[in-house]
Amino acid sequence: MSKPIIVSGIQPTGNLHIGNYLGAVKNWVELQNSGKYQMYIFIADYHSLTGNMKPEDRRAQITRTAAELLAAGIDPEKTVFWVQSHVLEHTELAWVFNSVTPISELERMTQYKDKSLQQAKNINAGLLTYPALQAADILLYHGEVVPVGQDQIQHVELTRDVARWFNKRYQEYFPETKHLLTQIPKVMSLVEPHKKMSKSLGADHVIELADESGVIEKKLKKAVTATEGGGEAPGVANLLLLLKQFGNETIYKEFVKAEKDGTIRYGDLKKVLGESISTYFADFRTRRMELLDNHNELGEILSEGASKAQKVASQTMEEVRKMIGVR
Ligand code: ADP
Ligand code: TRP
Repeated sequence: MSKPIIVSGIQPTGNLHIGNYLGAVKNWVELQNSGKYQMYIFIADYHSLTGNMKPEDRRAQITRTAAELLAAGIDPEKTVFWVQSHVLEHTELAWVFNSVTPISELERMTQYKDKSLQQAKNINAGLLTYPALQAADILLYHGEVVPVGQDQIQHVELTRDVARWFNKRYQEYFPETKHLLTQIPKVMSLVEPHKKMSKSLGADHVIELADESGVIEKKLKKAVTATEGGGEAPGVANLLLLLKQFGNETIYKEFVKAEKDGTIRYGDLKKVLGESISTYFADFRTRRMELLDNHNELGEILSEGASKAQKVASQTMEEVRKMIGVR
């Protein structure tokens, strides 16, 4: 029996933050290390064209994101790891998928609606057809399981639809895809804890894996805790959740108890949490710097990954070209 195929990716639009980590990346590493899956993880650089990034920033960020994923535990011996644009078949299959996908289905996507508001001056066609490219990313490798955070569920469901539309129009070929969430599919912003932690909100909203302890401390100082008028405070719940993930269990339980008793001191909570996060990612920061100092090694890893991915992708495309009648 062959192992189930996992495919996931991340855009090179910023350094990894603890939302990405707890919602997706940590899970990728655990799934990889379980040995139960065939793993494909890539950097979605073509997806990032739909935003407002400058070319030189994109170039630098692709390198940083690659170094960060490796530093976080992605192992190129166990996982096929590459940059999307290095494998041309992604965009080729996306075109085929564009041509079976109703526009009305794309217009329903909440990410499309949100981004159209966020970047009202740049509502490009790529922003709309983004999920067709995402479906191509997944189905080129016959991906069955897609580990992502909560905000990506809709796109994975659309991938399943795209496979059905293709299979119906041409022939039964692509598998059914399902998403896989972690226990923490949605980490909240530090400053606006009713919103998802996202780099697009601004630097103070996120803690990056690469942040030094002083930076983490400063950001946590600005984090919102109890809301005016009392009641359940989402900011506090979020900080406690983070402490549970990154801290020591006994201390976490003490803070939960103190929160119930009303004796909790938020300053103390932030201090302990800051130290826990900084310690948790200490090795990550070291490995990240080593990789960034060694561009040749990084380049080799990515080019080997691309050639492994390309073997699978070109096979898929050869079959697809026949099915659609261009060969
Ligand atoms: P951002 O919103 O910061 O731009 P991305 O959209 O690049 O992050 O997300 C990359 C991956 O991380 C996706 O699988 C996404 O679902 C997950 N993710 C992003 N933010 C969070 C969060 N706050 N909580 C949980 N998962 C998240
Ligand atoms: N859309 C995803 C995000 O913003 C990134 C992505 C692109 C992706 N292609 C993918 C995730 C394929 C999983 C599978 O986070």
